[in-house]
Amino acid sequence: MTDEFFASIFPNDHMVPEKHRIASPIEQRQYLCDGAIKEWTGPQQDVLSPICEAIDGIVRQKLIGSYPLLTEEQALETLDAACRAYDHGRGPWPTMSVEGRIRHVEAFAYRMQEQREEVVKLLMWEIGKTLPDAEKEFDRTVDYIRDTIDALKDLDRLSSRFVIEQGVIGQIRRAPLGVALCMGPFNYPLNETFATLIPALIMGNTVIFKPPKLGVLLHQPLLGAFRDSFPRGVVNTVYGEGHKVVGPLMKSGRIDVLAFIGSSRVADVLKHQHPKPHRLRCILGLEAKNAAIVLKDADIDNAVQECALGALSFNGQRCTALKILFIHKDIVDEFITKFSDAVGKLKEGMPWDTGVRITPLPEPDKTKYLTELIDDARTKGAHVVNENGGTVKHTFMSPAIVYPVGPGMRLYSEEQFGPVVPIAAFTDIEEPMDYVTQSDYGQQVSLFGSNAELIADLIDPMVNQVCRVNINSQCQRGPDIFPFTGRKDSAEGTLSVSDALRVFTIRTLVAAKATDANRRIIKSIITERRSRFLSTDFIL
Ligand code: G3H
Repeated sequence: MTDEFFASIFPNDHMVPEKHRIASPIEQRQYLCDGAIKEWTGPQQDVLSPICEAIDGIVRQKLIGSYPLLTEEQALETLDAACRAYDHGRGPWPTMSVEGRIRHVEAFAYRMQEQREEVVKLLMWEIGKTLPDAEKEFDRTVDYIRDTIDALKDLDRLSSRFVIEQGVIGQIRRAPLGVALCMGPFNYPLNETFATLIPALIMGNTVIFKPPKLGVLLHQPLLGAFRDSFPRGVVNTVYGEGHKVVGPLMKSGRIDVLAFIGSSRVADVLKHQHPKPHRLRCILGLEAKNAAIVLKDADIDNAVQECALGALSFNGQRCTALKILFIHKDIVDEFITKFSDAVGKLKEGMPWDTGVRITPLPEPDKTKYLTELIDDARTKGAHVVNENGGTVKHTFMSPAIVYPVGPGMRLYSEEQFGPVVPIAAFTDIEEPMDYVTQSDYGQQVSLFGSNAELIADLIDPMVNQVCRVNINSQCQRGPDIFPFTGRKDSAEGTLSVSDALRVFTIRTLVAAKATDANRRIIKSIITERRSRFLSTDFIL
Protein backbone atom coordinates (compact mmCIF):
# COMPACT_ATOMS: atom_id res chain seq x y z
CA MET A 1 0.00 0.00 0.00
CA THR A 2 1.42 3.35 -1.02
CA ASP A 3 1.68 6.56 0.98
CA GLU A 4 -0.56 8.12 -1.64
CA PHE A 5 -3.29 5.79 -0.45
CA PHE A 6 -2.84 7.05 3.12
CA ALA A 7 -2.82 10.65 1.88
CA SER A 8 -5.88 10.02 -0.25
CA ILE A 9 -7.82 8.86 2.80
CA PHE A 10 -6.52 10.80 5.79
CA PRO A 11 -6.23 14.58 5.61
CA ASN A 12 -3.60 16.97 6.84
CA ASP A 13 -5.03 19.45 9.36
CA HIS A 14 -5.23 22.23 6.80
CA MET A 15 -7.33 20.01 4.52
CA VAL A 16 -10.14 19.79 7.09
CA PRO A 17 -12.77 22.45 6.31
CA GLU A 18 -12.47 25.14 8.95
CA LYS A 19 -15.95 24.69 10.40
CA HIS A 20 -15.29 21.01 11.03
CA ARG A 21 -11.88 21.46 12.68
CA ILE A 22 -11.17 20.72 16.32
CA ALA A 23 -8.73 23.50 17.19
CA SER A 24 -7.24 21.74 20.23
CA PRO A 25 -8.10 18.62 22.24
CA ILE A 26 -11.26 18.99 24.33
CA GLU A 27 -10.49 18.27 27.96
CA GLN A 28 -13.91 17.29 29.26
CA ARG A 29 -13.61 17.27 33.04
CA GLN A 30 -17.24 17.74 34.05
CA TYR A 31 -19.99 15.40 35.09
CA LEU A 32 -23.57 16.24 35.99
CA CYS A 33 -24.65 15.26 39.47
CA ASP A 34 -27.43 16.50 41.72
CA GLY A 35 -28.22 19.52 39.56
CA ALA A 36 -24.62 20.75 39.37
CA ILE A 37 -21.88 20.37 36.80
CA LYS A 38 -19.00 19.11 38.91
CA GLU A 39 -15.31 19.37 38.05
CA TRP A 40 -13.30 16.18 38.08
CA THR A 41 -9.63 16.46 38.96
CA GLY A 42 -8.71 12.77 38.74
CA PRO A 43 -7.44 10.64 35.86
CA GLN A 44 -8.81 11.14 32.35
CA GLN A 45 -9.39 8.78 29.42
CA ASP A 46 -7.85 9.99 26.16
CA VAL A 47 -10.25 10.15 23.23
CA LEU A 48 -8.67 9.04 19.95
CA SER A 49 -10.49 9.77 16.73
CA PRO A 50 -10.78 7.03 14.10
CA ILE A 51 -9.24 9.67 11.84
CA CYS A 52 -5.47 9.27 11.65
CA GLU A 53 -2.75 11.83 11.18
CA ALA A 54 0.85 11.45 10.11
CA ILE A 55 3.35 13.50 12.06
CA ASP A 56 7.04 13.20 11.15
CA GLY A 57 6.25 10.01 9.32
CA ILE A 58 4.51 8.46 12.33
CA VAL A 59 0.87 7.58 11.78
CA ARG A 60 -1.47 7.64 14.74
CA GLN A 61 -5.11 8.26 15.58
CA LYS A 62 -5.66 11.93 16.26
CA LEU A 63 -6.05 12.84 19.95
CA ILE A 64 -9.21 14.91 20.18
CA GLY A 65 -9.79 15.12 23.89
CA SER A 66 -10.32 13.29 27.13
CA TYR A 67 -13.11 12.50 29.57
CA PRO A 68 -13.28 11.67 33.30
CA LEU A 69 -12.46 8.22 34.59
CA LEU A 70 -14.77 8.47 37.56
CA THR A 71 -14.67 5.97 40.38
CA GLU A 72 -17.20 4.08 42.44
CA GLU A 73 -17.42 7.08 44.77
CA GLN A 74 -18.75 9.46 42.10
CA ALA A 75 -20.98 6.75 40.64
CA LEU A 76 -22.63 6.25 44.01
CA GLU A 77 -22.85 10.01 44.46
CA THR A 78 -24.92 10.23 41.24
CA LEU A 79 -27.01 7.27 42.42
CA ASP A 80 -27.74 9.03 45.72
CA ALA A 81 -28.74 12.15 43.78
CA ALA A 82 -31.09 10.21 41.48
CA CYS A 83 -32.62 8.31 44.43
CA ARG A 84 -33.11 11.55 46.41
CA ALA A 85 -34.78 13.21 43.43
CA TYR A 86 -37.10 10.22 43.02
CA ASP A 87 -37.62 10.00 46.78
CA HIS A 88 -39.54 6.71 46.60
CA GLY A 89 -41.89 8.27 44.08
CA ARG A 90 -42.63 11.25 46.30
CA GLY A 91 -40.12 13.69 44.78
CA PRO A 92 -41.26 16.75 42.84
CA TRP A 93 -40.39 15.08 39.51
CA PRO A 94 -42.32 11.78 39.79
CA THR A 95 -45.31 13.62 41.28
CA MET A 96 -45.26 16.49 38.80
CA SER A 97 -48.20 16.80 36.41
CA VAL A 98 -47.66 15.42 32.93
CA GLU A 99 -47.98 18.93 31.53
CA GLY A 100 -45.32 20.12 33.93
CA ARG A 101 -42.87 17.41 32.89
CA ILE A 102 -43.58 18.09 29.23
CA ARG A 103 -42.62 21.75 29.74
CA HIS A 104 -39.24 20.72 31.15
CA VAL A 105 -38.56 18.36 28.25
CA GLU A 106 -39.60 21.06 25.75
CA ALA A 107 -37.20 23.50 27.40
CA PHE A 108 -34.43 20.91 27.05
CA ALA A 109 -35.20 20.24 23.37
CA TYR A 110 -35.04 23.97 22.67
CA ARG A 111 -31.66 24.33 24.35
CA MET A 112 -30.39 21.13 22.72
CA GLN A 113 -30.89 22.56 19.26
CA GLU A 114 -28.47 25.39 20.00
CA GLN A 115 -25.73 22.74 20.21
CA ARG A 116 -26.45 21.04 16.87
CA GLU A 117 -23.29 22.13 15.09
CA GLU A 118 -20.98 21.14 17.94
CA VAL A 119 -22.63 17.75 18.50
CA VAL A 120 -22.60 16.96 14.76
CA LYS A 121 -18.91 17.87 14.55
CA LEU A 122 -18.09 15.59 17.47
CA LEU A 123 -20.12 12.73 15.98
CA MET A 124 -17.88 12.96 12.91
CA TRP A 125 -14.63 13.07 14.87
CA GLU A 126 -15.47 10.58 17.61
CA ILE A 127 -17.10 7.79 15.62
CA GLY A 128 -16.44 8.69 11.98
CA LYS A 129 -20.11 9.18 11.07
CA THR A 130 -20.58 11.06 7.79
CA LEU A 131 -21.81 14.65 7.99
CA PRO A 132 -25.29 13.91 6.54
CA ASP A 133 -25.70 10.88 8.83
CA ALA A 134 -24.50 12.86 11.87
CA GLU A 135 -26.97 15.64 11.05
CA LYS A 136 -29.67 13.04 10.57
CA GLU A 137 -28.85 11.46 13.93
CA PHE A 138 -29.17 14.84 15.64
CA ASP A 139 -32.38 15.88 13.87
CA ARG A 140 -33.97 12.45 14.28
CA THR A 141 -33.31 12.74 18.01
CA VAL A 142 -34.99 16.14 18.24
CA ASP A 143 -37.94 14.77 16.24
CA TYR A 144 -38.05 11.78 18.56
CA ILE A 145 -38.36 14.10 21.56
CA ARG A 146 -41.22 16.00 19.87
CA ASP A 147 -42.99 12.77 18.90
CA THR A 148 -42.56 11.46 22.44
CA ILE A 149 -44.27 14.56 23.81
CA ASP A 150 -47.18 14.11 21.39
CA ALA A 151 -47.47 10.41 22.22
CA LEU A 152 -47.52 11.20 25.92
CA LYS A 153 -50.28 13.77 25.43
CA ASP A 154 -52.34 11.11 23.65
CA LEU A 155 -51.65 8.56 26.36
CA ASP A 156 -52.55 11.04 29.09
CA ARG A 157 -55.78 12.01 27.36
CA LEU A 158 -56.82 8.37 27.24
CA SER A 159 -56.05 8.02 30.95
CA SER A 160 -58.03 11.11 31.95
CA ARG A 161 -61.24 9.17 32.28
CA PHE A 162 -62.75 6.77 34.73
CA VAL A 163 -63.70 3.18 34.05
CA ILE A 164 -66.75 1.81 35.79
CA GLU A 165 -66.98 -1.97 35.74
CA GLN A 166 -68.86 -4.45 37.91
CA GLY A 167 -69.64 -1.79 40.48
CA VAL A 168 -66.06 -0.60 40.76
CA ILE A 169 -64.84 2.84 39.69
CA GLY A 170 -61.24 2.98 38.57
CA GLN A 171 -58.78 5.38 37.07
CA ILE A 172 -55.84 3.70 35.37
CA ARG A 173 -52.63 5.51 34.50
CA ARG A 174 -49.02 4.68 33.90
CA ALA A 175 -46.73 5.49 36.83
CA PRO A 176 -42.92 5.69 36.85
CA LEU A 177 -40.69 2.86 38.05
CA GLY A 178 -37.88 4.66 39.86
CA VAL A 179 -34.24 5.24 38.93
CA ALA A 180 -33.31 4.36 35.36
CA LEU A 181 -29.77 3.67 34.15
CA CYS A 182 -29.55 4.46 30.42
CA MET A 183 -26.62 3.34 28.29
CA GLY A 184 -26.52 3.77 24.51
CA PRO A 185 -24.22 2.23 21.87
CA PHE A 186 -21.26 3.80 20.07
CA ASN A 187 -22.89 3.71 16.62
CA TYR A 188 -25.80 5.93 17.70
CA PRO A 189 -24.31 7.51 20.80
CA LEU A 190 -26.76 10.40 20.84
CA ASN A 191 -29.91 8.97 19.33
CA GLU A 192 -30.02 5.61 21.05
CA THR A 193 -29.04 7.07 24.42
CA PHE A 194 -31.84 9.62 24.13
CA ALA A 195 -34.32 7.07 22.74
CA THR A 196 -34.45 5.60 26.26
CA LEU A 197 -33.40 8.57 28.38
CA ILE A 198 -36.15 10.93 27.18
CA PRO A 199 -39.09 8.51 27.62
CA ALA A 200 -37.69 7.42 31.00
CA LEU A 201 -37.53 11.04 32.10
CA ILE A 202 -40.80 12.28 30.73
CA MET A 203 -42.65 9.46 32.48
CA GLY A 204 -41.34 10.61 35.85
CA ASN A 205 -38.31 8.39 36.45
CA THR A 206 -35.01 9.91 37.46
CA VAL A 207 -32.05 9.01 35.30
CA ILE A 208 -28.35 8.26 35.35
CA PHE A 209 -26.88 8.00 31.91
CA LYS A 210 -23.54 6.70 30.85
CA PRO A 211 -22.39 7.50 27.33
CA PRO A 212 -20.82 4.64 25.37
CA LYS A 213 -17.03 4.23 25.42
CA LEU A 214 -16.83 5.88 21.99
CA GLY A 215 -19.01 8.94 21.53
CA VAL A 216 -18.59 10.62 24.91
CA LEU A 217 -17.42 14.16 24.18
CA LEU A 218 -20.50 14.92 22.10
CA HIS A 219 -22.64 14.80 25.26
CA GLN A 220 -20.65 17.56 26.94
CA PRO A 221 -22.30 20.48 25.05
CA LEU A 222 -25.65 19.22 26.39
CA LEU A 223 -24.75 19.05 30.08
CA GLY A 224 -25.72 22.70 30.70
CA ALA A 225 -29.09 22.19 29.02
CA PHE A 226 -29.77 19.15 31.21
CA ARG A 227 -28.74 21.04 34.34
CA ASP A 228 -30.92 24.05 33.54
CA SER A 229 -33.97 22.20 32.20
CA PHE A 230 -34.65 19.68 34.98
CA PRO A 231 -34.97 19.78 38.77
CA ARG A 232 -31.80 18.78 40.63
CA GLY A 233 -30.92 15.13 40.61
CA VAL A 234 -33.39 14.22 37.87
CA VAL A 235 -30.63 13.77 35.26
CA ASN A 236 -27.11 12.68 36.19
CA THR A 237 -24.14 11.40 34.19
CA VAL A 238 -21.35 8.96 34.86
CA TYR A 239 -18.21 8.40 32.80
CA GLY A 240 -15.49 5.83 33.02
CA GLU A 241 -14.82 2.13 32.89
CA GLY A 242 -17.97 0.01 33.14
CA HIS A 243 -16.77 -2.28 35.89
CA LYS A 244 -15.76 0.68 38.06
CA VAL A 245 -18.84 2.87 37.65
CA VAL A 246 -21.67 0.69 36.36
CA GLY A 247 -20.89 -2.40 38.47
CA PRO A 248 -21.40 -0.54 41.79
CA LEU A 249 -24.63 1.01 40.52
CA MET A 250 -26.10 -2.37 39.61
CA LYS A 251 -24.77 -4.09 42.74
CA SER A 252 -26.42 -1.44 44.92
CA GLY A 253 -29.84 -2.88 44.01
CA ARG A 254 -31.13 0.70 43.71
CA ILE A 255 -31.40 0.75 39.91
CA ASP A 256 -35.00 0.00 38.99
CA VAL A 257 -34.72 0.06 35.20
CA LEU A 258 -31.79 -0.83 32.99
CA ALA A 259 -31.97 0.50 29.44
CA PHE A 260 -28.95 -0.83 27.61
CA ILE A 261 -28.10 -1.03 23.94
CA GLY A 262 -24.97 -3.06 23.31
CA SER A 263 -23.81 -6.65 23.54
CA SER A 264 -25.73 -9.50 25.20
CA ARG A 265 -22.53 -10.46 27.05
CA VAL A 266 -22.42 -7.10 28.85
CA ALA A 267 -26.20 -7.06 29.34
CA ASP A 268 -26.02 -10.45 31.08
CA VAL A 269 -23.20 -9.26 33.37
CA LEU A 270 -25.16 -6.13 34.33
CA LYS A 271 -28.42 -7.98 35.00
CA HIS A 272 -26.72 -10.56 37.17
CA GLN A 273 -25.02 -7.88 39.24
CA HIS A 274 -28.38 -6.72 40.55
CA PRO A 275 -29.04 -8.39 43.92
CA LYS A 276 -32.79 -8.67 43.23
CA PRO A 277 -33.06 -9.30 39.48
CA HIS A 278 -36.85 -9.74 39.71
CA ARG A 279 -37.08 -6.07 40.67
CA LEU A 280 -35.08 -4.92 37.69
CA ARG A 281 -36.92 -3.98 34.50
CA CYS A 282 -34.76 -4.32 31.41
CA ILE A 283 -34.99 -2.76 27.99
CA LEU A 284 -32.20 -4.22 25.91
CA GLY A 285 -31.15 -3.76 22.28
CA LEU A 286 -28.51 -6.39 21.53
CA GLU A 287 -26.77 -8.13 18.62
CA ALA A 288 -28.27 -9.15 15.30
CA LYS A 289 -27.22 -10.97 12.16
CA ASN A 290 -29.98 -9.87 9.81
CA ALA A 291 -30.12 -11.85 6.57
CA ALA A 292 -31.27 -10.78 3.13
CA ILE A 293 -32.85 -13.56 1.09
CA VAL A 294 -32.86 -12.78 -2.62
CA LEU A 295 -35.19 -15.07 -4.60
CA LYS A 296 -34.50 -15.87 -8.24
CA ASP A 297 -37.36 -13.70 -9.51
CA ALA A 298 -36.20 -10.64 -7.56
CA ASP A 299 -35.62 -7.28 -9.23
CA ILE A 300 -31.84 -7.61 -9.06
CA ASP A 301 -31.08 -3.92 -9.46
CA ASN A 302 -33.34 -3.04 -6.54
CA ALA A 303 -31.95 -5.89 -4.43
CA VAL A 304 -28.39 -4.73 -5.17
CA GLN A 305 -29.17 -1.16 -4.22
CA GLU A 306 -31.00 -2.08 -1.00
CA CYS A 307 -28.38 -4.66 0.02
CA ALA A 308 -25.54 -2.17 -0.54
CA LEU A 309 -27.34 0.38 1.62
CA GLY A 310 -28.40 -2.21 4.16
CA ALA A 311 -24.99 -3.82 4.50
CA LEU A 312 -22.74 -0.79 4.29
CA SER A 313 -24.48 2.35 5.60
CA PHE A 314 -22.17 3.71 8.28
CA ASN A 315 -19.68 1.00 7.26
CA GLY A 316 -22.07 -1.76 8.34
CA GLN A 317 -21.98 -0.52 11.93
CA ARG A 318 -25.73 -0.70 12.56
CA CYS A 319 -27.44 -3.36 14.59
CA THR A 320 -30.02 -3.50 11.79
CA ALA A 321 -27.40 -3.88 9.04
CA LEU A 322 -27.74 -6.76 6.59
CA LYS A 323 -24.94 -9.00 7.83
CA ILE A 324 -25.30 -11.92 5.42
CA LEU A 325 -26.84 -12.14 1.95
CA PHE A 326 -28.41 -15.38 0.67
CA ILE A 327 -28.75 -15.21 -3.10
CA HIS A 328 -30.46 -17.80 -5.27
CA LYS A 329 -27.86 -19.81 -7.18
CA ASP A 330 -29.38 -18.95 -10.57
CA ILE A 331 -28.77 -15.24 -10.13
CA VAL A 332 -25.80 -15.18 -7.78
CA ASP A 333 -23.21 -14.37 -10.49
CA GLU A 334 -25.20 -11.48 -11.88
CA PHE A 335 -25.94 -10.24 -8.37
CA ILE A 336 -22.27 -10.34 -7.34
CA THR A 337 -21.14 -8.51 -10.47
CA LYS A 338 -23.68 -5.75 -9.95
CA PHE A 339 -23.20 -5.66 -6.19
CA SER A 340 -19.39 -5.34 -6.56
CA ASP A 341 -19.96 -2.53 -8.99
CA ALA A 342 -22.31 -0.73 -6.58
CA VAL A 343 -19.91 -1.19 -3.66
CA GLY A 344 -16.99 0.01 -5.80
CA LYS A 345 -18.83 3.28 -6.34
CA LEU A 346 -19.15 4.00 -2.60
CA LYS A 347 -16.86 6.93 -2.01
CA GLU A 348 -14.22 6.43 0.67
CA GLY A 349 -12.93 9.30 2.72
CA MET A 350 -13.45 11.63 5.65
CA PRO A 351 -16.86 12.15 7.29
CA TRP A 352 -17.19 15.70 5.97
CA ASP A 353 -16.23 14.87 2.35
CA THR A 354 -19.15 15.43 0.00
CA GLY A 355 -20.80 12.16 -1.04
CA VAL A 356 -18.59 10.02 1.21
CA ARG A 357 -20.02 6.65 2.30
CA ILE A 358 -17.12 4.67 3.75
CA THR A 359 -15.17 6.18 6.64
CA PRO A 360 -12.58 5.08 9.24
CA LEU A 361 -13.70 2.69 11.99
CA PRO A 362 -13.69 3.86 15.62
CA GLU A 363 -13.43 0.58 17.54
CA PRO A 364 -9.90 -0.36 18.63
CA ASP A 365 -8.32 -3.07 16.46
CA LYS A 366 -11.49 -3.35 14.37
CA THR A 367 -9.69 -3.72 11.06
CA LYS A 368 -7.59 -6.52 12.59
CA TYR A 369 -10.72 -8.35 13.73
CA LEU A 370 -12.41 -7.98 10.35
CA THR A 371 -9.28 -9.17 8.58
CA GLU A 372 -9.27 -12.27 10.79
CA LEU A 373 -12.86 -12.99 9.76
CA ILE A 374 -11.95 -12.63 6.10
CA ASP A 375 -8.84 -14.82 6.50
CA ASP A 376 -10.89 -17.47 8.28
CA ALA A 377 -13.35 -17.55 5.38
CA ARG A 378 -10.48 -17.66 2.86
CA THR A 379 -8.87 -20.66 4.50
CA LYS A 380 -12.25 -22.42 4.27
CA GLY A 381 -12.77 -21.78 0.57
CA ALA A 382 -14.24 -18.27 0.20
CA HIS A 383 -12.71 -15.32 -1.68
CA VAL A 384 -12.87 -11.55 -1.58
CA VAL A 385 -14.58 -10.95 -4.90
CA ASN A 386 -14.37 -7.18 -5.28
CA GLU A 387 -11.41 -5.06 -6.25
CA ASN A 388 -9.52 -3.66 -3.22
CA GLY A 389 -12.01 -5.39 -0.91
CA GLY A 390 -10.60 -5.71 2.60
CA THR A 391 -7.70 -3.32 1.96
CA VAL A 392 -6.70 -1.87 5.31
CA LYS A 393 -4.88 1.30 6.16
CA HIS A 394 -4.78 1.83 9.91
CA THR A 395 -8.40 2.43 10.99
CA PHE A 396 -9.76 2.27 7.47
CA MET A 397 -11.00 -0.76 5.56
CA SER A 398 -12.35 -0.85 2.02
CA PRO A 399 -15.56 -2.91 1.99
CA ALA A 400 -14.97 -6.59 1.33
CA ILE A 401 -17.49 -8.87 -0.40
CA VAL A 402 -16.76 -12.45 0.59
CA TYR A 403 -18.14 -15.40 -1.40
CA PRO A 404 -19.09 -18.25 -1.07
CA VAL A 405 -19.64 -18.15 2.66
CA GLY A 406 -21.02 -21.20 4.41
CA PRO A 407 -21.44 -23.01 7.72
CA GLY A 408 -18.23 -23.38 9.69
CA MET A 409 -16.92 -19.96 8.69
CA ARG A 410 -16.96 -17.28 11.37
CA LEU A 411 -18.54 -14.84 8.93
CA TYR A 412 -21.51 -17.17 8.62
CA SER A 413 -22.54 -16.77 12.25
CA GLU A 414 -20.57 -13.91 13.90
CA GLU A 415 -21.92 -10.39 13.85
CA GLN A 416 -19.14 -8.56 12.01
CA PHE A 417 -20.48 -5.03 12.59
CA GLY A 418 -18.23 -3.63 9.89
CA PRO A 419 -17.68 -3.28 6.14
CA VAL A 420 -17.51 -6.99 5.28
CA VAL A 421 -20.40 -8.52 3.34
CA PRO A 422 -20.66 -12.33 3.35
CA ILE A 423 -22.65 -13.85 0.50
CA ALA A 424 -24.02 -17.40 0.41
CA ALA A 425 -25.77 -19.04 -2.55
CA PHE A 426 -28.81 -21.27 -2.09
CA THR A 427 -30.92 -23.54 -4.26
CA ASP A 428 -33.52 -24.68 -1.73
CA ILE A 429 -35.34 -21.94 0.19
CA GLU A 430 -35.12 -24.18 3.27
CA GLU A 431 -31.39 -23.32 3.46
CA PRO A 432 -31.80 -19.60 4.33
CA MET A 433 -34.97 -20.35 6.30
CA ASP A 434 -33.04 -22.85 8.37
CA TYR A 435 -30.25 -20.28 8.83
CA VAL A 436 -32.69 -17.75 10.28
CA THR A 437 -34.34 -20.41 12.45
CA GLN A 438 -31.07 -21.72 13.87
CA SER A 439 -29.50 -18.29 14.38
CA ASP A 440 -28.92 -17.01 17.91
CA TYR A 441 -30.43 -13.74 16.77
CA GLY A 442 -33.94 -12.75 15.77
CA GLN A 443 -34.19 -9.10 14.85
CA GLN A 444 -35.18 -8.67 11.18
CA VAL A 445 -34.95 -10.22 7.73
CA SER A 446 -35.20 -8.78 4.21
CA LEU A 447 -36.96 -10.74 1.46
CA PHE A 448 -36.43 -9.83 -2.17
CA GLY A 449 -38.74 -11.25 -4.83
CA SER A 450 -41.61 -10.40 -7.15
CA ASN A 451 -43.99 -13.35 -6.69
CA ALA A 452 -46.60 -12.54 -4.05
CA GLU A 453 -47.33 -16.20 -3.42
CA LEU A 454 -43.69 -17.10 -2.76
CA ILE A 455 -43.22 -14.09 -0.52
CA ALA A 456 -46.39 -14.91 1.41
CA ASP A 457 -45.05 -18.45 1.98
CA LEU A 458 -41.98 -16.93 3.59
CA ILE A 459 -43.67 -14.23 5.62
CA ASP A 460 -45.64 -16.53 7.90
CA PRO A 461 -42.73 -18.67 9.09
CA MET A 462 -40.39 -15.66 9.26
CA VAL A 463 -42.59 -13.49 11.50
CA ASN A 464 -42.22 -16.14 14.17
CA GLN A 465 -38.43 -16.04 13.90
CA VAL A 466 -37.75 -12.30 13.71
CA CYS A 467 -39.66 -9.17 14.63
CA ARG A 468 -39.73 -7.38 11.28
CA VAL A 469 -39.90 -8.82 7.79
CA ASN A 470 -38.91 -6.26 5.14
CA ILE A 471 -40.12 -6.82 1.60
CA ASN A 472 -37.83 -5.65 -1.18
CA SER A 473 -36.07 -3.27 1.18
CA GLN A 474 -33.19 -3.25 3.62
CA CYS A 475 -33.64 -3.82 7.36
CA GLN A 476 -34.00 -0.70 9.49
CA ARG A 477 -35.37 0.63 12.75
CA GLY A 478 -37.41 3.55 11.43
CA PRO A 479 -39.90 5.10 11.22
CA ASP A 480 -39.54 5.55 14.96
CA ILE A 481 -43.24 5.02 15.62
CA PHE A 482 -42.81 1.40 14.45
CA PRO A 483 -41.98 -1.17 17.15
CA PHE A 484 -38.29 -1.98 17.29
CA THR A 485 -37.34 -5.20 19.02
CA GLY A 486 -36.00 -8.70 18.49
CA ARG A 487 -36.24 -12.33 19.57
CA LYS A 488 -33.62 -14.63 21.14
CA ASP A 489 -30.30 -12.81 21.81
CA SER A 490 -31.35 -9.66 19.92
CA ALA A 491 -33.49 -7.72 22.39
CA GLU A 492 -35.60 -7.57 25.48
CA GLY A 493 -38.57 -5.20 25.49
CA THR A 494 -39.83 -3.10 22.61
CA LEU A 495 -38.86 0.43 21.70
CA SER A 496 -40.83 2.87 19.59
CA VAL A 497 -42.06 6.33 20.43
CA SER A 498 -45.16 4.97 22.16
CA ASP A 499 -43.75 1.62 23.39
CA ALA A 500 -40.93 3.42 25.18
CA LEU A 501 -43.47 5.32 27.29
CA ARG A 502 -44.86 1.96 28.36
CA VAL A 503 -41.60 0.18 29.16
CA PHE A 504 -40.51 2.85 31.64
CA THR A 505 -43.79 2.73 33.54
CA ILE A 506 -46.18 0.39 35.22
CA ARG A 507 -49.96 0.45 34.96
CA THR A 508 -51.30 1.69 38.27
CA LEU A 509 -54.83 2.45 39.30
CA VAL A 510 -56.98 3.97 41.96
CA ALA A 511 -60.19 1.99 42.48
CA ALA A 512 -63.22 2.19 44.74
CA LYS A 513 -66.56 0.46 45.12
CA ALA A 514 -69.10 2.69 43.49
CA THR A 515 -70.91 3.65 46.70
CA ASP A 516 -72.39 7.11 47.21
CA ALA A 517 -69.79 7.90 49.85
CA ASN A 518 -66.90 6.91 47.55
CA ARG A 519 -68.41 8.83 44.64
CA ARG A 520 -68.55 11.93 46.87
CA ILE A 521 -64.86 11.51 47.85
CA ILE A 522 -63.71 11.00 44.27
CA LYS A 523 -65.77 13.94 43.03
CA SER A 524 -64.39 16.21 45.68
CA ILE A 525 -60.77 15.19 44.91
CA ILE A 526 -61.36 15.89 41.23
CA THR A 527 -63.25 19.16 41.49
CA GLU A 528 -60.85 20.54 44.05
CA ARG A 529 -57.89 19.19 42.09
CA ARG A 530 -56.38 17.54 45.16
CA SER A 531 -54.54 14.79 43.29
CA ARG A 532 -52.40 14.76 40.16
CA PHE A 533 -53.06 11.08 39.60
CA LEU A 534 -56.78 11.00 40.32
CA SER A 535 -57.73 13.72 37.92
CA THR A 536 -59.75 14.31 34.80
CA ASP A 537 -57.61 17.22 33.61
CA PHE A 538 -57.26 16.95 29.87
CA ILE A 539 -54.18 18.15 28.02
CA LEU A 540 -55.27 20.30 25.10
O1 G3H B 1 -27.69 0.08 15.56
C1 G3H B 1 -28.87 -0.19 15.46
C2 G3H B 1 -29.84 0.85 15.15
O2 G3H B 1 -30.95 0.79 15.98
C3 G3H B 1 -30.21 0.86 13.72
O3 G3H B 1 -31.06 1.88 13.45
O4 G3H B 1 -31.89 1.14 11.25
O5 G3H B 1 -32.19 3.47 12.03
O6 G3H B 1 -29.93 2.65 11.40
P1 G3H B 1 -31.28 2.30 11.93
